[in-house]
Amino acid sequence: MLLRDCSYVTGLSTCFYDRAGELGELERGLRWAHTIILYGPRSSGKSEFARYYVSRRLGSDVVAVVFDARRKRGTRFFESLGVEVVHLDESVALRALDAILKILEGLRANMPLDLRALTHGARELYKVLLSVVSSLSEVYVVVDEAHLLEERGAFIRDLEAVAGALAKYRELSNIRLLVTSSEGFISTTDVYSRLRGYSEKFIAVEELDEEHFKMLYEEYCSKRGGCITPLNIIEAIAGRLPGYIAEVEWRARSGELESFIKVELKKLLRAIVEASLAEGVGLEQLARKLVMAFEGSIRYYEVGLKAVEVLIERNIAYERGLTMKPQLALYARALKLAVEKGVTLDNLAERGFDVRELLEL
Ligand SMILES: Nc1ncnc2c1ncn2[C@@H]1O[C@H](COP(=O)(O)OP(=O)(O)OP(=O)(O)O)[C@@H](O)[C@H]1O
Ligand SMILES: [Mg+2]
Repeated sequence: MLLRDCSYVTGLSTCFYDRAGELGELERGLRWAHTIILYGPRSSGKSEFARYYVSRRLGSDVVAVVFDARRKRGTRFFESLGVEVVHLDESVALRALDAILKILEGLRANMPLDLRALTHGARELYKVLLSVVSSLSEVYVVVDEAHLLEERGAFIRDLEAVAGALAKYRELSNIRLLVTSSEGFISTTDVYSRLRGYSEKFIAVEELDEEHFKMLYEEYCSKRGGCITPLNIIEAIAGRLPGYIAEVEWRARSGELESFIKVELKKLLRAIVEASLAEGVGLEQLARKLVMAFEGSIRYYEVGLKAVEVLIERNIAYERGLTMKPQLALYARALKLAVEKGVTLDNLAERGFDVRELLEL
């Protein structure tokens, strides 16, 4: 079934396409889960999916608070706190503000503050926030790009505490936490096990299916007077990850597609060398195993756990169940070409590679 929602405008200025499976999974999950982790490869649409979902839920008594860690990290550039409240009924906001001002007034009257007054003030503030939260039927807290927030350990500890609180404290039970994070972060940390048992659910957001991707490509291109990059080239480079439609098209328009591919191949080569050293196996042997893993004929751990860790850290591949997937379709193609045609990876990255041959494999 084809699905697109043109009442919503995405970051590509298009309608929102598909995600029926993920939406169903999220809706079923939210019946019991308080913390949802959306993970997947770069530019697959995790952030857009979270924003789309909450925008559809918003109503007079449903609000969303979005923490955009990317903006938060870039505070100096964006002049932004990285926090955005989506749809808050004005009367709720004004009531809360009024109460907060009274508390602050009270604190000022007690200047210089002693610890007791401060504790009292903090407790009162918490009560106000709780009363705002409890007057709403659903509150979505979206933490976008969570892996950028803090140093890893600190972030995971915070997430563990918050997920636990949302699962256990009744006064917070109408809050739902949606966290988006890169696949690599999820699989190289112990976040799975740390959150287990705290009403958590992990949902993968990956490529769009063939039909929806094609529709999105056509809408995107028609809005820009046509694209110079054919659909199959975009797919050969980056699979059906929506964010790469714009990325690849812009590179092509500015004559930089070939150098983009070269840089990606160098990155692949460097990661494979590092992975083969970590695992203690030869380059070619590792490349062969990786091709088999990408094709699904061997499981990820058969590639070698140390090598896998490096490949995930370096954003070359990610785990999906027991299989491995390339972050970019290009990596799988290049490795296949190298293995099948006996081209060394060096050659592929440096000289002698033919973009057309690579992409038409
Ligand atoms: N279902 C969709 N329909 C149409 N456009 C989409 C869809 N999903 C994502 N996009 C577009 O694709 C681009 C990438 O999406 P998004 O930024 O959400 O990816 P991401 O997975 O959060 O990436 P990152 O790993 O960088 O955080 C955005 O411009 C977004 O507007
Ligand atoms: Mg994102």
